Amino acid sequence: MKIKFSQSSTDLFFNRSFGDLKKIVDPATAILVTDENIYKKHAAKFKGWNSIVLKPGEEFKVQSTADAVIEQLITMNASRQTMLVGVGGGVVTDITGYVASIFMRGLRFGFVPSSLLAMVDAAIGGKNGIDVGVYKNMVGTFSQPAFIFYDLSLLETLPEPEWSNGFAEIIKHAFIRDAGMFRDLEKNSPEYYRKNNAALVKLVRRNVLLKIGVVKKDEFEKNERRLLNFGHTLGHALENQYELSHGQAISIGMTFAAHVSEKMTGLKDPDRLVSLLSKYGLPTYASFNKKKVYDVLKMDKKKERKDMNFVLLEQIGKGVVKKIPVDKLENMLQNLI
Ligand SMILES: NC(=O)c1ccc[n+]([C@@H]2O[C@H](COP(=O)([O-])OP(=O)(O)OC[C@H]3O[C@@H](n4cnc5c(N)ncnc54)[C@H](O)[C@@H]3O)[C@@H](O)[C@H]2O)c1
Repeated sequence: MKIKFSQSSTDLFFNRSFGDLKKIVDPATAILVTDENIYKKHAAKFKGWNSIVLKPGEEFKVQSTADAVIEQLITMNASRQTMLVGVGGGVVTDITGYVASIFMRGLRFGFVPSSLLAMVDAAIGGKNGIDVGVYKNMVGTFSQPAFIFYDLSLLETLPEPEWSNGFAEIIKHAFIRDAGMFRDLEKNSPEYYRKNNAALVKLVRRNVLLKIGVVKKDEFEKNERRLLNFGHTLGHALENQYELSHGQAISIGMTFAAHVSEKMTGLKDPDRLVSLLSKYGLPTYASFNKKKVYDVLKMDKKKERKDMNFVLLEQIGKGVVKKIPVDKLENMLQNLI
């Protein structure tokens, strides 16, 4: 499937096996970027490819890692003809896309997402970035991958907690855009999707197409794409200050946003949303230093002067972006959760 964007296109390869990657990318001119966990678990797959192996984890999604990758690319004699392929979770895909878009002013790049979260979210849409201190994705580029290649068997080695991280973004998609998927998720369970490959394939595909649909309408995040930030304003402010994964942080952020929605748009029954997050193993209410978190939150990229572009729900499956004065947000942070 070919998806056209304003300046380039992305080929989607569903239901593939890793071995087929050689049919679409020439190992002689490609360099794979991955992390140590994936490299160790799937060593045989990397045979015959040039590879750069990063230390795993969000704390390495920083400029110094990008610099180290750039130095390795120079040592490996990379040129403008080199294709970078990020094989990994969202940290690997974000860094690969970022380095590829700045090295020699831009190389072609593609992704083989290996975590559920990267499959349904991080690999899609062309946002590539790194963190700066506690500020998430503060530096980065918009640049679309040439391809995204799906081999769901990679998920066989995905650690247990990473499944709920992926489900957090799937649930977010349901909240903002797909009431039917919300009902399916309510009816089923994480175990059902993990045991039933056909259902998982269908769920991943549905989410890929949902995200692409949103991104295609607003590639550079001026309007509609902002909906994908549901739960992310508080989530990002929490993520690098506490020992939380991305999925856990945005789940707490979505819980807060559901209660803000109840106040501001009259969303009915926010508890139904919170229950779904819990069902998929995600945290919802948490105690944290609200002053410290607010100080980071108010620096969010979605802020315009004194207002925050905050994503709310009018109903399940219908997200909207509303401007909320940041001081009002602070007040709700103190009082709503
Ligand atoms: N660019 C975007 O649009 C976008 C969207 C959403 C999230 N993100 C970013 O994605 C990141 C989170 O992604 P993530 O949850 O995939 O994190 P991650 O890349 O850190 O992966 C999570 C963990 O799972 C391991 N792992 C991944 N796949 C594996 C596999 N198949 N087998 C064994 N271990 C495996 C990794 O080594 C890591 O330890 C965050 O940095 C977030 O900001 C970006």
